[in-house]
Amino acid sequence: RNNGDEKIDYVYKVVVIGDSAVGKTQVLSRFARNEFCFDSKSTIGVEFQTKTLSIKSKVVKAQIWDTAGQERYRAVTSAYYRGALGAMLVYDITKRKTFDNVARWLEELRVHADNSVVIALIGNKADLEDKREVPSEDAMEFAENQNLYFSETSAFTGDNVEAAFVKLLEEIY
Ligand code: GTP
Repeated sequence: RNNGDEKIDYVYKVVVIGDSAVGKTQVLSRFARNEFCFDSKSTIGVEFQTKTLSIKSKVVKAQIWDTAGQERYRAVTSAYYRGALGAMLVYDITKRKTFDNVARWLEELRVHADNSVVIALIGNKADLEDKREVPSEDAMEFAENQNLYFSETSAFTGDNVEAAFVKLLEEIY
C-alpha cells in the first residue's frame, strides 16, 4: 500500500486500447480499485487511474490511461501514446469482431507508440464462457506470432486481472 510518502522508484505509463465495450474501463477499475460496474458508460476522451505496487522489490507507480474505443470519442492519438511503456490491447472473447480488429489496434500502436512498447493481448469477459466466439488457442497462436503476452481476464469476477497487469509491468521493468 502506498501511503503517499513511500518512495516511488519508477512511474510507468500504460495505455489500454481496444474496441468499444470490450471492458477496458472495467478491467482498469478492477485492477486499480477492485471495483466493477455493470452499467458502465462509454469513455469520452481520456481518463487515467494509478496504482502503486511492488515489482521485483521496487515500488512502481502504474499510471494507466483509458480512452474511448469509439472513434468519435477518442482523444488526440499521439498525445495518448506518448511516453507509454506498455499497452493492454483488449478484446471481448464473446465478440469475434473485436478480436478481428486487434490487427488494426496493433497498427495504430506501431504508428504512434514507441518501438519498445511492451504489449499484452487481453481476452476479457472470460466469465461468459457459454457465449465464447474466440477460442483461446486462436488468440494464443496470434499472440505468439506477434510477440504479445496473452491472458484471458474477467473484470466481472476479477480473474487474472491483477496477474495480467503484473506480468506487463514486470516485462516493462
Ligand atoms: P468504451 O469506453 O466505449 O471504449 O468501452 P470499454 O471498453 O471501456 O467497456 P466498459 O468497461 O465500459 O464495459 C462495457 C460493458 O461490458 C459494460 O456493461 C461492462 O459492465 C461489461 N463488462 C466489462 N467487463 C466485463 C467482464 O469481464 N464480464 C462481463 N460479463 N461483463 C463485462
